[in-house]
Amino acid sequence: MTMLSNLAPIPELYVSFDSAQKLKFEAANLKSLDLTPRQICDLELLMNGGFFPLKGFLTEEDYNGVVENMRTADGSLWPMPITLDVSEEFAAGLELGEDIALRDQEGVILATMTVTDRWEPNKSREAEMVFGADDLAHPAVNYLHNTAGKIYLGGPVTGIQQPVHYDFKARRDTPNELRAYFRKLGWRRIVAFQTRNPLHRAHQELTFRAAKEAQANLLIHPVVGMTKPGDVDHFTRVRCYEAVLDKYPQSTTTMSLLNLAMRMAGPREAVWHGLIRKNHGCTHMIVGRDHAGPGKNSAGEDFYGPYDAQDLFRQHQDEIGIEMVDFKHMVYVQERAQYEPNDEIEDRDNVTILNISGTELRRRLAEGLEIPEWFSFPEVVAELRKTKPPRAQQGFTVFFTGLSGSGKSTVANALMVKLMEMGGRPVTLLDGDVVRKHLSSELGFSKEHRDINIKRIGYVASEITKNGGIAICAPIAPYTATRRAVREMIEAYGAFVEVHVATSLEECEARDRKGLYKLAREGKIKEFTGISDPYEEPQNPELRLDTEGTEVDNCAHQVLLKLEGMGLIGLS
Ligand code: PPS
Repeated sequence: MTMLSNLAPIPELYVSFDSAQKLKFEAANLKSLDLTPRQICDLELLMNGGFFPLKGFLTEEDYNGVVENMRTADGSLWPMPITLDVSEEFAAGLELGEDIALRDQEGVILATMTVTDRWEPNKSREAEMVFGADDLAHPAVNYLHNTAGKIYLGGPVTGIQQPVHYDFKARRDTPNELRAYFRKLGWRRIVAFQTRNPLHRAHQELTFRAAKEAQANLLIHPVVGMTKPGDVDHFTRVRCYEAVLDKYPQSTTTMSLLNLAMRMAGPREAVWHGLIRKNHGCTHMIVGRDHAGPGKNSAGEDFYGPYDAQDLFRQHQDEIGIEMVDFKHMVYVQERAQYEPNDEIEDRDNVTILNISGTELRRRLAEGLEIPEWFSFPEVVAELRKTKPPRAQQGFTVFFTGLSGSGKSTVANALMVKLMEMGGRPVTLLDGDVVRKHLSSELGFSKEHRDINIKRIGYVASEITKNGGIAICAPIAPYTATRRAVREMIEAYGAFVEVHVATSLEECEARDRKGLYKLAREGKIKEFTGISDPYEEPQNPELRLDTEGTEVDNCAHQVLLKLEGMGLIGLS
């Protein structure tokens, strides 16, 4: 493996400015692929050396090595598959050895790639080996099975231009820009702090102490590419980080934004973060408890042990070339009005130890409750309150799902009227039939068409939610994975309340309000949900409505009570 001093320039995959102009025109004639947001993040770090020593998207041999034992074919340590996933149709149209153009979402050509490899990966194996379980509760496993294309392409990348960013331009640095900055300031030892969350006082204390202990300068290196679904958006976070930056002694600390797409892979992710920080010129990295943890698995247990990431990092730190500074759990000692490492407090029986967990903080923000100054900086709290007003003022989506004729539309209508009577927020009803008329008139009822239909509904609902309104959706939405995708889209902006209208097939058929079941039984309507097409029942909806023997009014009221219980509305 090539050894580089931490501040010497690192190889990039870009061609020179002149060649890039030429290549760009030539590349316009190639078959081209519009990259997904995650692929754009990966490409940026491939091209700028953030993923050194990778020279492109993994080949099949490299991929197998990375999946099996965290090494590329030449033996380099690399724990994360960086793969170019595409559809079967796109893959089938290519010849091996062919160059393709890689474009951003507006069609700008960022790079070309020579396709040397094309294969269908075993995604379950990838999930088991890389993420520890083939469990869709893991966001990256869910992405792998439900978002990523079926086929992987591999091959070397030739960089033409960086992806364009319009936000926080001055805060974004390539590995070489950071290295040059450290060289210029004479920084030799640099400890990196990776984060996807806003910083509060405990983090400020912890990072400051870590830098002191390592006798190093500090780089706050937050991820602004893709983080865990539901995280605070990066615009808000960066404004928070800027406020915290003023709290460090001048000239010890800097901040740079990293356009990484995280995978939440715990231990493997920690090693990956180490390699990325090494490439960005750092000598140390802080690794915390449950580093890059994905939350709970579908059995309600943690995916990884709290110190698995530290253990794996420690095993590989010499080879990564970066030293781990382990995280101290900092708590506030009221009597001394300061933060101290929890395990170093000797008089713990005689002092008051205060701590606010992430969950508690979210609750306080959601309910508009006080957040004390010992916990966070007023500027940070003010930023968070701007983006996250109390829940009763945020937008949200109520998503009814159930068989045809189950009563979704009727209950949804009643709910809409009740919410409009209460006032305060605009309400939009996206009823199955209405959507099919105005948004999806060209679609039928194949799985593919149903998925498109539901994703359109999800998109509109997410926009309504983002802008502080209430969206009520009432499609059949028979597929779990699609409902989950919609949930993720919406939870980025507000609550998603799934209501399963659990009227049985027998009852729906007996009611047969539109006469469709009869036609379906006679084979006159094909692919009819419940008769000749599947309906996957929601396993954990926020609410299940049993409509048999319950009045519509009461069903709608149950939803209102649920919304009230979740703090989304105030019932007077
Ligand atoms: S889906 O699966 O969510 O896209 O379906 P949705 O958009 O809710 O549309 C369901 C309404 O279309 C009518 N209809 C059918 N439903 C199911 N299967 C088939 N093959 C079909 N053909 C027509 C039916 O009236 C549904 O309305 P609701 O309100 O659910 O009864």
